[in-house]
Amino acid sequence: MNFQMIPMRVLGDDRGSLVAVEAEKDVPFAIARVYYIFGTREGVERGFHAHKILQQLAVAVRGSCTMLLDDGKEKVEIKLDAPDKGMYIGPGIWREMKDFTEDCVLLVFADQHYDEADYLRKYEDFLAFLQTAKQ
Ligand code: TYD
Repeated sequence: MNFQMIPMRVLGDDRGSLVAVEAEKDVPFAIARVYYIFGTREGVERGFHAHKILQQLAVAVRGSCTMLLDDGKEKVEIKLDAPDKGMYIGPGIWREMKDFTEDCVLLVFADQHYDEADYLRKYEDFLAFLQTAKQ
């Protein structure tokens, strides 16, 4: 599946911790956009889409949530629960996010500006996209 857990290097000393994120070094792409999801209400599930070309790296910098990834053949569920636990998600992966803790801040780096045309928001469109991409 086109995803990878990327450990973020923590620079710590007796004052605390720091993670630096440099494009094409700590994330495997040039960063065009950063966004963060926070204040997610209890029981809420988000995502439910895939992207045609977008690459992203997500880190729960505070709190935790569960990421479900699906490439049309298999599904994996991974808990993002540490500020040094990066999850790279390539194109063609359906994602759903759930189990947000109240304090969860999910920071996401992306390699493209926001473009609604890059979204596959219906599961059937996602499966059709995978079929076309195979040919
Ligand atoms: P949405 O795609 O529904 O979020 P999620 O996939 O996490 O459930 O995005 C929520 C709204 O924010 C939607 O109106 C699109 C908008 N949005 C932007 O304008 N820019 C962005 O970079 C993102 C990620 C979303």
